[in-house]
Amino acid sequence: LIDELSEIRNCIEERMIEILGRISHPRLYAATRHLVDAGGKRFRALIPALITSAIGSGEEAGIDLGASLELIHTFTLVHDDIMDQDSLRRGRPTVHIAFDEATAINAGDAMFAVSMEALADSPHIRAEHAVTLVRAVAGMVRHLSDGQQMDVSFESEEANESDYLEMIAAKTGSIFRIAGWGGALISEADQNSCQKMEEWGIQLGLCFQIIDDLIDLLGDEEATGKPIGSDLIQGKRTLVIIHAENMLSSGEALALSKVFGVKEDVDPDDLRSAIAVLQSCGAIEVVRARAKQAHEEARKCLEVLPQNRWTDILIRLTDLQVERSI
Ligand code: IPE
Ligand code: IPE
Ligand code: MG
Ligand code: MG
Ligand code: MG
Repeated sequence: LIDELSEIRNCIEERMIEILGRISHPRLYAATRHLVDAGGKRFRALIPALITSAIGSGEEAGIDLGASLELIHTFTLVHDDIMDQDSLRRGRPTVHIAFDEATAINAGDAMFAVSMEALADSPHIRAEHAVTLVRAVAGMVRHLSDGQQMDVSFESEEANESDYLEMIAAKTGSIFRIAGWGGALISEADQNSCQKMEEWGIQLGLCFQIIDDLIDLLGDEEATGKPIGSDLIQGKRTLVIIHAENMLSSGEALALSKVFGVKEDVDPDDLRSAIAVLQSCGAIEVVRARAKQAHEEARKCLEVLPQNRWTDILIRLTDLQVERSI
């Protein structure tokens, strides 16, 4: 699937580099290129272009919207790695490690700013839609910031399943949501279709983040390019932790407590044992079932699109989110 989409990806990546060209300071510019050049799956980037292609209108605008959203996603990763104290991303040292913390914060801000400028300036987006989109994208980042703050708060506060779902809908769902809704909007789709594609984005975002949290536990560092067990070490209340709290024996809970929220100097054997108890207690299956539920919901929303090759690709992209291991 990813190979099939290489032509659109190349277009979007060229647009992203062009947008970053607005940044003057050489070291700041280099810091913004660091993570962009490291690759990434570009899922969010592809969504508006796939929707506009499926509907058959506004394809160029779809590329522009995708490029801006992907750069905003990249900016949030730069700041997220400072917040989560992670030093590996896309198989490379994170921006605050490769450069320094001050430059990474500034690079994130600069990426956000040029993404908004590019969106407002896009020659392919009608003026009327540009105003609506710029407002929606600013609201998206506000929502995402709320979610990231909830994520940080949950390191020291209790959280239940509904708190967790609210948090991930905000920190992760918000970009998928605007990618889906915005793709339909610039295709001049009717209000019902825009709403359905917005709902598709929300559900896909939930599925995506639930699976991402499983990958943090069960994934392979070589393949993901991210540190395994980071959420445990950092003390993140993911859905697995929320369910495991009621499923672990006292001995198992002790094994988990040796690494959970310890933040640094974790023994790799202790980390492996903690992951093993989470696997054996059955919490992983419960969580995977919740991801599948969101996937089903997302799948239904796609019925609003015309049947064609592009819609088939969107269906496969939706299915990929429950099956992915990177
Ligand atoms: C990482 O997103 C941040 C999350 C919301 C989990 P991706 O897994 O899409 O990261 P890249 O862009 O492919 O590196
Ligand atoms: C990231 O969530 C969400 C945003 C960047 C807004 P995570 O912190 O779980 O993402 P990874 O695992 O570092 O990619
Ligand atoms: Mg993180
Ligand atoms: Mg985080
Ligand atoms: Mg994660």
